[in-house]
This record gives sequence, structure tokens and C-alpha cells, in this order.
Amino acid sequence: MPKRELWASRLGVVLAMAGNAVGLGNFLRFPVQAAQNGGGAFMIPYFVALLLLGVPLAWCEWAMGRLGGSHRTGSAPGVFHLLWKHPAAKYLGALGICLPLGVLTYYLYVESWSLAYSFFSLIWNMIGRTSVEDFRAFLGAYQGGGHRLGVSAIGYLFFAITIGVNYWVMSGGIARGIERLARIGMPALFLMAIGLVVRVLTLDPPSGAPPEQNVVNGLGFIWNPDLASLRNGRVWLAAAGQVFFTLSVGFGAIQCYASYLRRRDDVVVTSLSASMMNEFVEVILGATIAIPAAYVFFGHAGTVEVARSGAFNLGFAAMPSIFLRMPGGAFFGWIWFFLLFIAGLTSSVALAQPAVAFLEDELGWSHQRAVRSVWIFLFLASHIPILGFAGGALDEVDFWAGTIGLALFALVESVIFLWIFGAERAWSEIHVGAEVRLPRPFFYVMKYATPLLLAGILAAWAWQQGWDVVRMREVPPEARPWRWAARLMLIGMIAVTVALIRRAWARREKST
Ligand code: ALA
Repeated sequence: MPKRELWASRLGVVLAMAGNAVGLGNFLRFPVQAAQNGGGAFMIPYFVALLLLGVPLAWCEWAMGRLGGSHRTGSAPGVFHLLWKHPAAKYLGALGICLPLGVLTYYLYVESWSLAYSFFSLIWNMIGRTSVEDFRAFLGAYQGGGHRLGVSAIGYLFFAITIGVNYWVMSGGIARGIERLARIGMPALFLMAIGLVVRVLTLDPPSGAPPEQNVVNGLGFIWNPDLASLRNGRVWLAAAGQVFFTLSVGFGAIQCYASYLRRRDDVVVTSLSASMMNEFVEVILGATIAIPAAYVFFGHAGTVEVARSGAFNLGFAAMPSIFLRMPGGAFFGWIWFFLLFIAGLTSSVALAQPAVAFLEDELGWSHQRAVRSVWIFLFLASHIPILGFAGGALDEVDFWAGTIGLALFALVESVIFLWIFGAERAWSEIHVGAEVRLPRPFFYVMKYATPLLLAGILAAWAWQQGWDVVRMREVPPEARPWRWAARLMLIGMIAVTVALIRRAWARREKST
């Protein structure tokens, strides 16, 4: 049997895990979520969710993954089967393959916009666009608005290039592909983000702008708390959702990366380091770029308008217009979009790895065959969110796979690990090879607070809006077909994965 790959160095593991977490979520999703959900007040539920859900679940996922790796299995079906000897366990693991693949079907498309826009930044002057409205129109056309097929040729080309780059990185394997990308990409990303933060903090308002339109007020826009918003359940849900998305918790992706650790590699400190690195990039760097820059150029009302209109307009319409108005704007614009591309790339390879690991570990496929199949599949499946972009397919996949699915998978894994495998055994498993012991209160947080909070969030959602969302009550009938296509795609993915799991276990039985 060929040897299972391992990470080459500890620094490489931390950088790869940080790359897994730091993504488009940190720079595009976070500032908009904070601005839309009470500014500084959003940070209260955010830190509560980080402490009670994000960080404890990351420890659990690291420990489960490392345990799986020592039994030559790195994806959720194999890991769950190891923890719970019930025939259903492996099938529940299907979520840990389908959720990251589902999210990737749109994530890759947005990642490809960043790559395209990093080129466009160098030639905006030639394209002759300047205002936010110009750039919104440009983005709309780039995304396929007005095209008969719903996709522009240039958008499709960059999407295909992005698929190719991801495929190329992953065909190098764990140490020579993913780890090498993280060792180069993550330091570069830090440098680029810090450079942009310095640029934003030294921005002068455009001539004629009122004096209150400055960086300090821009930071206040994100950080000044609107405490009344804390009474709104939606704000708490948004905060928990952001914590999951940004840490890559609830995807099965951390588990899978951790399966390439050695049995006695520490997970307590390493997991915390990767999570904290992600939080530094999100809360300190991510919050200090797009929104404060928009504030300086467009003022309070303009920033509210752009933040409400969503993450894509902020990142892909407001930002280019801002860069064009500052000295060295082409260079800084390039940095912004290339930074997004690197952040996206280090996350997208992580989201594809559980499927690759499943095909290798459970079905015995060669690495090249597994990587090729997963990327051909992703290329084809992404056509639903791409062609159905205007029809809401992307939002639909993001909602089911990227929001509800993550909380559901996190609940399943916390129950399997902490209640079925057992909290004491889980606690010892987390501490195998640990350099420091976790304070005991975390034991109770993991055992009680984490699953209860997850169950509470899901139950409250199901009770308040679940059925209305399932039957698309608020979606006009003409806007439903693409959303149904997106749902069918996700259901189809789960059905195929379940069939493959069946086949894999039949194979296991034959070989024993
Ligand atoms: N954690 C990744 C992100 O923030 C998925 O984009």
C-alpha cells in the first residue's frame, strides 16, 4: 500500500491551515456583515461565537482529523466510521464532502473575478471607467448581464484559468502542492494586506469633501456599536455564520488537512495559532481596508449604500473606483485583487481536498486520478451558479451549503465526537502530543455549550423561517427555476456521494 502523505514542516501546517481559513470571507464578507449588522455591536456576538463555537470546534476537527489520518482516512465518512461504529455514521460523513464541493461551485467563480480584476486594474485607464456606477455596470456585464448565455466570454475564460491553477496546485499533492503554495502565498498575502492597510490609513479625503469624511470616522463606521441591534436574532445568526465561514469550520476541510499530521503532532497550540492568524487578518486587516476606504471617498451615506448592496459591489465596484482616484492606484488595485485571488486559492484547494482524500483513501484511486476527477466535476457543476447567477443560483447554494449546511455538519460532528465517541475520550484525544493543556472550562464548553448553541440556532431558524424558505415563499415564481436547479445540484451531489460511500465500504468488506 503506498504511504499516505504528511505535511513537511510545522510552519507549513500552520500556514496551510491559515490559508484554508483566510479567504474571500475575510476581506469581502466580513466587513459587509459587520457594517450591515450593527457595526461594533456585531463584534459582541461574533466573539461569543468565536469562543463558544469556532475555536472549540476547530480543536475538535483537528483532533478528529489527526486520529483519522493515523488510520489512513482523511474524509468525514472514514473519520465518523472510526468514531461511531454505526452503519449510518459513514453516510452522515457525506456532508463533509458535499458541503465544501457545493461552496466551491460558486467560490471558484468569485475567485476567478479577483484574478481577472487584478489584470484589469493595470489597464483601467485604457478602459475609461471611473465612477462606482461605471464599475457596477462593468461588473454586471462581466458577470454575464445582457449575455444570452448568462456568462461573458472573458468571465468564462478566467474561470477556466482559475480551475486550471487550482488543479495544478493540487496535482502536486500535500507537501509539494498545497504546502508550497501556503509557504509562498501566505507571507505574500500578509505583506500585501499590511501594505493596503497602511495606504488606507494614510488616505486624504478627495478635494471638496467635508472634513468628517476621514479614516477615523471610517473605522468608527465599523466599530461604533449600535447596541439595539443585539436584540435582533438575525444579528446573532449572521455572526455565528461568519465565524464558521471564516474559520472553515463545519466544512470537513480542517479535519481533512489535519489527517496529514503525524500522530503526536500538537493540535492544541497549532490550531489556536491558525485560528488567531485568521482573526488577525479578518478583524484587524480585513476591517481596515474596504469600508474605511469607501468612507473616505463616498462618505457615510455612500458607504451605507454600497455596504447594503453587498460584498461584490464593495469589492469589485467601489474599490476600483477608489483606487483610480489615488496616486499609484493601478498598483494598489492590482494588490487588492491579487490578494483576494491568493486568499481564495489557498481556501479553494482546502475545500476540494476532502473529496480528493475520500477517493484516494476509501476507493484506492491514484492521486492524479482523484484530483483530475474532482476538478472535472467542479468545472461542470460550477455551471449552475455561473449560468444561473442572475437567477439567484449562487445565493441559493451559499445559503444551503455555506450557511445552514455548515451549522448542521458542525452539530453532527460535535455530537459524534463529544457524545458518542465520548467527551473524556475526545478531551484525551485533543491532548495527544499537546505542548500545553487546555483550561478545563473548555471541556464543558465543548461538551455542552457548543452542541446546544448549534442545535438552538438551527431550531430557531427552522421554527421561525424554515418552511417558508424551503418553499421559497418570498421568491417570485419567475425567479425560482435556477434556485431549484441549485438545490437539485446539491441533492444530486449527496446522492452520488452516498453511492460512492456504499461502494467504498463494500470494497473494505471484501478486503477484510
Ligand atoms: N474560510 C474561507 C473564507 O473565509 C472559506 O473564505
